[in-house]
Amino acid sequence: MMEWTDRHWRRFARCLTRRALLYTEMVTAAALVHGRTEQLIEHDAAEYPLALQIGGSKPDELHAAVLRVRDQGFCEINLNLGCPSDRVQAGCFGAALMADPIRVAECLSAMRTASGSEGPEITAKIRLGIDDQVIDETLPQFLEMLNSSNIERIIIHARIAILGGLSPKQNRDVPPLNYSLVTQMKRQFPHLKIILNGGLQTVESGLEYMDSLDGIMMGRAAYQNPQELLKVDPVIFSEPAPHNSARDALMAYRPYVEKHLEKGWPLKHLSRHLVGLYHQVPGARRYRQILSEEAHLPGADWAVIERALNAVSEVSTHA
Ligand SMILES: Cc1cc2nc3c(=O)[nH]c(=O)nc-3n(C[C@H](O)[C@H](O)[C@H](O)COP(=O)(O)O)c2cc1C
Repeated sequence: MMEWTDRHWRRFARCLTRRALLYTEMVTAAALVHGRTEQLIEHDAAEYPLALQIGGSKPDELHAAVLRVRDQGFCEINLNLGCPSDRVQAGCFGAALMADPIRVAECLSAMRTASGSEGPEITAKIRLGIDDQVIDETLPQFLEMLNSSNIERIIIHARIAILGGLSPKQNRDVPPLNYSLVTQMKRQFPHLKIILNGGLQTVESGLEYMDSLDGIMMGRAAYQNPQELLKVDPVIFSEPAPHNSARDALMAYRPYVEKHLEKGWPLKHLSRHLVGLYHQVPGARRYRQILSEEAHLPGADWAVIERALNAVSEVSTHA
């Protein structure tokens, strides 16, 4: 997710779950080909398993982009066919491509060729459709195209996107969710691995779809309420979480924070992903307040996070 799943967030997420597949922010194929590739895909093996998401609509460019990144440790390279932002539409990629399955097939074929049989899996993230498409017809056609392009796994954000009419934020909330169409598609295309995305607030709420589908993707809830990630390993994979509590997870993040502070990173870059860690517990408001008011001050260091954390525990122990 743009601005959210940067490498600091991913490193923190790994203190909460070992098993969840994490996705990078979307990087455009053009930037990967013409820009500073190394910087754009900078990550650490501690973040694995990690998927790189790419945006693009030119088969040659996508081919070149995948060639550049295929040996960099990502287990998956995902083509974004769901983003509705104006900037993305201007480049004619993201959700706009849902109207152009022939081009998408060319793009995916180019990506698969570049990745080869040993490289990262190529996947796609799609919407149910866009604008006034009759999705009962166009979605199965689109999936048929993905199937014949040998794409084996797709993520479906279970709502349409309205291009030109709604803002990106509205496009994540206003068009209604339609999970039943997603499960219907799985019955129609049993060979496709289908991951459900959109509106899942808790790990448990996704569990009921794990029988009929192949997985769930949580976006906003995972970021805004990171404690959800603590449930992923035990609830989905029947394995212990890396740490028993949010506090322990935060302490495990500390060496990473301190190392980056030493390198000159401002604390706010490392602490901004921690703001949602506590909700509805005594002291949570004070915790958030300390992080937002103090992390950007000159010289701010781990002590700010420690103070924020103490606000939570101090109040809870007296509650
Ligand atoms: C700040 C933000 C940035 C996002 N960036 C991306 C992105 O780069 N690529 C993408 O496929 N989806 C992106 N999304 C959409 C989410 O991945 C997800 O599909 C959407 O929020 C619906 O799922 P949710 O209800 O679990 O959040 C973004 C969402 C948000 C809130």
